[in-house]
Amino acid sequence: MKKKNDLEQLKDSEKGHASTYSSRYFKESVPKFELPEKSMPANAAYQLIHDELNMDCNPALNLASFVTTWMEPEGQKIMMENMHKNFIDHDEYPQTEVIHNRCINILARLFNSPKECKTIGTCTVGSSEAIMLGLLAHKWKWKNRRKAENKPYDKPNIIFGADAHICWDKFAKYFDVEMRMIPMEKGRYVINADLVKPLIDENTICVGTILGTTFTGQVDAIEEINTLLLEIKKEKGWDIPIHVDGASGGFVVPFSDPSYLWDFRLEQVKSINVSGHKYGLVYPGVGWILWRDENDFPEDLIFNVNYLGGKMPTYTLNFSRNSMGVLGQYYNFIRLGREGYAHVMKNCLANAQYLGQNLEKSGKFHMINQGQILPIVALRLADNIKNFTVFHLSAEMRKRGWVISAYTLPANAEEVAIMRIVVKENFSREMAEILLSDIMEACERLAKSQMPDEDQDKVRKHPIC
Ligand SMILES: Cc1ncc(COP(=O)(O)O)c(C=O)c1O
Repeated sequence: MKKKNDLEQLKDSEKGHASTYSSRYFKESVPKFELPEKSMPANAAYQLIHDELNMDCNPALNLASFVTTWMEPEGQKIMMENMHKNFIDHDEYPQTEVIHNRCINILARLFNSPKECKTIGTCTVGSSEAIMLGLLAHKWKWKNRRKAENKPYDKPNIIFGADAHICWDKFAKYFDVEMRMIPMEKGRYVINADLVKPLIDENTICVGTILGTTFTGQVDAIEEINTLLLEIKKEKGWDIPIHVDGASGGFVVPFSDPSYLWDFRLEQVKSINVSGHKYGLVYPGVGWILWRDENDFPEDLIFNVNYLGGKMPTYTLNFSRNSMGVLGQYYNFIRLGREGYAHVMKNCLANAQYLGQNLEKSGKFHMINQGQILPIVALRLADNIKNFTVFHLSAEMRKRGWVISAYTLPANAEEVAIMRIVVKENFSREMAEILLSDIMEACERLAKSQMPDEDQDKVRKHPIC
């Protein structure tokens, strides 16, 4: 009632249905700490937030992120129409669950699940949740096995490379597993069987491998590590699973190079995650985790809830979430099919190659991921560039609106500074041309400018920046 009276006291122009926005709301600072006492018209609230968000970068020029920044209007429409459905309410929204299960079936076949296996899986908020769930299942399987053998189960360890995403470190810390991380070296930014072998013991719950690393887009030697683990299984009886982090590559390689062996065709690959919101081509908020067979997932991690109506098994870290991601994913599956995904991935790869080759040809850059598997271009500045760094270049490009990430690699390759360009579906050849010319102009400007002393120091400390 009070709200209505307040609104009635406003002048017509302030009621929110006037043709223009009331200056009352535009001459004051927006609430930042306290919930405001009074309401404001919907259109004023909308416009205030909308305008402020113009300060964000233009998603189409965001080449730093792997996450989808463009979808077809019809895909977007199906997502918006269902944004108010809580995905977890399977009893209330049974058809959404049916569609989710179809996505799992499609992914299982895309990742070459063997016929004799009953592959299971679930959607997640993204690859981080998917990875934690996948690794947790391996920890539990290992623990149950050790318990059954009457052996200690208090010192689990996990092996992966420093090329893994931060969510792998998070898993080790949050779930109390010793992290045996293989450092990088200058010139080697992925892991192989020789590096993994000395770290393995009977307490290894899993070996983590990456199909397209966040840092350079390169791929760990998954097939070789699988062979090593098969040998160890035969010799010592330790059945150590591989989890493949296919966050980006899981939606690229099956289409760009279907014969490349990385998935459930390899015997020890027991779980795979993939980000629907990266090359799955869906807006942020959807990832997937699949286990090769239902036996690879420990039953004691499944919870049954009855308070949503019906009996509902759940095995996600998260509970409530919207249904948009799952439905957007299914839209892409039936709309694009293998043909469409292959088309998109090959275009992205062609444009990434075009960019990489031209940047190298300029003599100013050295490409790190030659023969790229992901449509990303990871570059360092050529050794002859002395008076600016990739950090300066990234900042200079920002002035034009481009967002390009620049970072140093993790231990022991910290001296290597990289600039990374992620090519996505909506990045056309014309945009690539504009980007190339903008990069060249930015390099010329930087070459002419005097670098501040502290930055000169940084370059000396990082000789191959
Ligand atoms: C290889 C890899 N794994 C995991 C993640 C985390 O994915 P998400 O952001 O979907 O949680 C990323 C994100 O870029 C990634 O590149």
